[in-house]
Parts: sequence; structure tokens; C-alpha cells
Amino acid sequence: MAQPTMVDYFSDPDVSQNPYEYWDHLRSIGPVTREPHQNVIAVTGYQEAQEAFKDTESFSAVNAIGGPFPPLPFEPVGDDITDQIEAHRHEFPIFEHMVTMDPPEHQKARSLLLRLLTPRRLQENEDFVWSLADRQLDEFIGSRRCEFLGDYAKPFATLAIADLLGVPDADRDEVRRNLGAGNAPGSRVGALDHEPVGSNPLQYLDDLFAGYITARRQEPRDDVLGGLASATYPDGTTPPVIEVVRPATFLFAAGQETVTKLLSSALLVLCERPDLQEQLRADRKLVVPFIEEALRMESPTKVDFRLARRSTTLGGVDIPAGSVIMLCLGAANRDPRKFDNPNEFRLDRTNVREHITFGRGIHTCAGAPLARVEGRVTINRLLDRMSDIRLDTGVHGPAGDRTVSYEPTFLLRGLTELHIEFDETK
Ligand code: HEM
Repeated sequence: MAQPTMVDYFSDPDVSQNPYEYWDHLRSIGPVTREPHQNVIAVTGYQEAQEAFKDTESFSAVNAIGGPFPPLPFEPVGDDITDQIEAHRHEFPIFEHMVTMDPPEHQKARSLLLRLLTPRRLQENEDFVWSLADRQLDEFIGSRRCEFLGDYAKPFATLAIADLLGVPDADRDEVRRNLGAGNAPGSRVGALDHEPVGSNPLQYLDDLFAGYITARRQEPRDDVLGGLASATYPDGTTPPVIEVVRPATFLFAAGQETVTKLLSSALLVLCERPDLQEQLRADRKLVVPFIEEALRMESPTKVDFRLARRSTTLGGVDIPAGSVIMLCLGAANRDPRKFDNPNEFRLDRTNVREHITFGRGIHTCAGAPLARVEGRVTINRLLDRMSDIRLDTGVHGPAGDRTVSYEPTFLLRGLTELHIEFDETK
């Protein structure tokens, strides 16, 4: 690999396959360092990333997804650009969704979502997820091989969210098809940093849910969508239909690809580490720390962005207003000041749950409980129904000479495909 500072994180193919060496180099220069190619300030330190997430006074989430792309729609002037951000907010990618909102609008949007994600709804959803895992496995288990992303992880993640939102059974196959869940490996559908193929999945979902909510406002029903339709803001006012629809539909964008990436990276570890597979089979309580360590080791959201709304400092480095900050979650999770031997996959890390894979602060992942359930249920059901789970060496090569490839994106960390073989437990 070329000298890391010569490397452009955003386009270098080697770095997209393995960003860790590059991040280690940046951190060795400093946990807050200017990246020369796109002129972003890269935060690779755990403490510093956490600080930036929590400081909503200094850092706006308006550019959370795109970072330096597209470039700022204005020339920052002065030490406080809050007014400029507000004047141009509608020009930023996915400005309508809560992940890019700042207080107080963010709190309003999130409050509607929290009306949905109650402990009771999450428990009902978990019960469904157990049966969903079995249904998904039934589709291919007899063949003793599968391409895990297309055959299991994508449809599983999509249908888990469809159930959470109360999408009627009759419509779920259509949702699965339209969101590309179950497409051939390598297909590029749905992720926020990908051009969707053929249709705009978020627009499709907005239209679908607008139909549900409108119908239930006209004819109230006692179901999950009915609950969403009647949800009010904390001040008691009723939101326009589109303001209920967006927090709901965004769950698909936020939770489909990320969970697929978590499940496949966790399964890759199981395939490569038969010793861990045996340990988990012997003691299922270890599945929980296993999932946390998988989240820490391969953070599905590699980086997240913020825009300095006012001049400030972070980790002792001056940050002028208008700077684009790149919070490198995957790097912070391997900061040796926080995690001992950070590149080692270990089941006995006492602080593993402190990883920042789900972010921190007001935007902390709203779907983290569901993602954790999906991970725990999947690994348990794979262990229940399969033995000797291994990589398909015909596709990925023999031990010691593996080829696995990761999606060539700067935003997400995930395998393009994962072919496995296994025996079916009787
Ligand atoms: C392993 C899987 C997942 C990962 C790694 C992940 C990661 C993240 C991260 C890092 C953020 C914070 C973004 C920011 O601060 O800019 C976030 C926000 C969010 N996530 Fe997740 N997520 C996952 C799964 C899910 C699922 C399953 C759902 C929904 C069902 C979901 C819904 C959301 C929503 C709605 C937000 C925005 C919260 C806000 O702005 O207040 N995520 N996620």
C-alpha cells in the first residue's frame, strides 16, 4: 500500500478493503488529524469521537451521511455558521430525515419514532424475529450451502423492520422485492451511499406508508400503523402525514444494509474460528458478547460526519467553523487507549459494550435494540440448525489463502458476498 497520507480514504480501493492500517497511521499522527485529500478532519480517537458526538452546540449533523460530498453549498463566513446552515439545510442530502436534523427539530422527529419503539412492540417484534429466522433458514437449509447475504441476511433484516412497523402480511413480499432483499450477491440496492437500481427505495416507502397512515386516519384501527397514525408531538399537535411517514420509512434505510453487514461479518468470524464456534455451542450465553465484539471489530457504519457550526477545539486541535469532521467509528473502536489489543477478537472484554458502533448522543442509533436481537437470534439459530459451519473454499479459497471482498464504499463496511457450507443438524 502507498504511504497512508498519500492515500485518499474516499477512493483508494485498498483502503476500502482494509481501512484499519490507514486509520492506525492517522491516529499515530494524532487522534484528530486533517485528511489532505477531501480536507476533512478525521477523528480516529475514541474519546474525541465520543466528545464530538455529544457536542451538538459545536457540531451539526446536517452532513451526517454525505460528509464532503457534495461540497458545502455555501462559503462559510465567520466563527458561527449556524444561520448559513439553516438557510441551506434543504440542499443537503436526505435533509428530510432525522439523522441529519439538529435540535429542536430532531427531537420532534425522534419523539414520533419513540412512540413506536416501545418495550412491548420490541418484545412482540423479537418473538416474530425468532420465527422469521427459521422461515428464512427453511428456504435453503436442505442444500447445505448458501450465499448468506442474499439467501438470509437481506430478506431477514428487511422483514424484521416490516414487522416492527406493522406492514400487513399481504404486502411484505412486495416490500421485500422492492427493497431488493434477496437479490443476487453483489447487487447494489438500498444503501444510502449507493445509487438505487431502477427505483428510489425511500420514495417508494414514503408512498407506501403515506397510504397506510392516511387510510388509518380516515378509519382508525388498533394496530401498529394505527398507533403511528394517531401519534402526536409532545405538545399535543398532530403531525402532517409526511412527518409521521419519514421516521418510519427511514428505518429501512438505516437498518437493512447495516444489519446485513453485522450478520455477515459475525458469521465470517464463526467460519474462520472453529474454536469460537465450539465455545458458543458449549455456552450460549457467550453469543451476546460475541455479537458485541463483532460490532466493535467491524463497525458496519465505518464513518459518520459532522459540520463544525462554530469555531472550537477537539482533542486540542483548532476546528474552524465550516470544517467537515469525519468521525471514524471503526477506528475509535480499535483505539488502543480504550481497548486492549484492539485488533484481537475476544469474548472476555469487560468494556466491549462501550464500542461506539451505534454512535452516541442525541442521534444514537434508534434501532440498536433490534440490531442486537437480530444478531443474537441469528447466531443462536445458525448454531441450533447447522454444524461445522465453514466457508465455501470453492469460492473463497483455502485457509491461508482466502479471498473475501468488501463493498468499495467509504461509508459502510460489509462483505460483498459470503458463501458457506454446513451440515444440517438432525
Ligand atoms: C448493526 C446495525 C446498525 C448500525 C451499525 C447502526 C448505526 C447507526 C449509527 C452510527 C447511527 C448514528 C448516526 C449519526 O449519529 O449520525 C444510527 C442512527 C440511526 N439508526 Fe442505526 N444502525 C444499525 C441498525 C439500525 C436498525 C436495525 C434501525 C431501525 C430498525 C436503525 C435505525 C436508526 C435510526 C432511525 C437512526 C437515526 C437516529 C437519530 O438521528 O436520532 N439502525 N445508526
